[in-house]
Amino acid sequence: MYFLRDFPLASFNTFGVAATARQFAVVSSEQALMRWCADHGKSTPPFLMGGGSNLLLTHDIEAPLLQLALRGARVVFDEGPTVLVEAMAGEPWHPFVLWTLKQGLCGLENLSLIPGFVGAAPVQNIGAYGVETAESCESVMTVNTQTGEPREFSNAECTFGYRDSVFKHGLDGVRDQYAITRVRFRLSRRFTPRLDYGELKQELKNAAITAPSAADVSRAVIAIRSRKLPDPAVIGNAGSFFKNPVVAADVAASLKSRFPTMPQYAAPDAQIKIAAGWLIEQAGWKGRRLGSAGVHSQHALVLVNHGGATGAALWTLARAVQADVQQKFGITLEPEPRVV
Ligand code: EPU
Repeated sequence: MYFLRDFPLASFNTFGVAATARQFAVVSSEQALMRWCADHGKSTPPFLMGGGSNLLLTHDIEAPLLQLALRGARVVFDEGPTVLVEAMAGEPWHPFVLWTLKQGLCGLENLSLIPGFVGAAPVQNIGAYGVETAESCESVMTVNTQTGEPREFSNAECTFGYRDSVFKHGLDGVRDQYAITRVRFRLSRRFTPRLDYGELKQELKNAAITAPSAADVSRAVIAIRSRKLPDPAVIGNAGSFFKNPVVAADVAASLKSRFPTMPQYAAPDAQIKIAAGWLIEQAGWKGRRLGSAGVHSQHALVLVNHGGATGAALWTLARAVQADVQQKFGITLEPEPRVV
């Protein structure tokens, strides 16, 4: 594994913001990663990165930056209706989803067109249109960045939550303690459509599809996402910038009585999830800009780089949005991407 010095990261983060990695290495071998971590991980803890699609860089990275770019995907075992597949962390997510569909495997179709690499899927417990990674993730292979030792996390050990997992915090509160190298998914040859999300059901209905296949669902998700969410290849963004806040039922009821049109959804533990996009739109931010940093005009949950915005400018905008939502609704919005 070798390092490049003062490496520009603008094309390595989907916000397209300028920042520099003092030392940058592409990790394409698990053995090399283990060796480097054993030799250097403790003295110089690395900064880990995948596809850079869930990252806001507000300054340069001084720690050695490791981009996990291990490639490949394979069927581990195929017995009856259940099939275990393994993808390397650096596989781009959407092509991997399409590959599973081509193998006749179901379970990831609702997660089509999400940017980023496979390795980020368990970190964020990526979710969309009623399905989360946690439901099909069997286990996650990692390397302890402080010791170089491999460790497999079972699904339960990943402690998945809404856009959350153990990998976001590390077991000892150390971020980037575990570098994800491979992810295993338990998929099925039998298709059970997951159409709880109203817009997805409507999309299929509009296409006159009454008995959808997994590929039909994937195509419908691609159509919705393409319509609603800006393409990072065209305009810099990191998808939803804030998590949908989850509040206690009595708080939600009181908000509903003051704001009857507020979208609310049932969440685990009798809590209520509130649509952050709606809160931001009501706070008057949809389509607004502070210089080159803006709130997307089609979806208020997405911050965009109109061209040349710095990470600091995007963060200033995010803070202004947070402050207004806090003032109007008494709700604290939490960023979804990693803000550095
Ligand atoms: N809304 C507004 N104004 C807006 C945007 C949304 O009022 O500008 C309202 C919508 O009308 C709707 C509600 O907010 O009633 C929810 O909007 P949407 O269905 O678009 O979903 P979301 O909650 O904004 C979440 C995920 C997305 C995922 C979609 C579909 C989070 C933070 N975001 O968005 O994930 O694709 O649901 O499942 O949970 C991502 O994480 O980057 C991401 C795009």
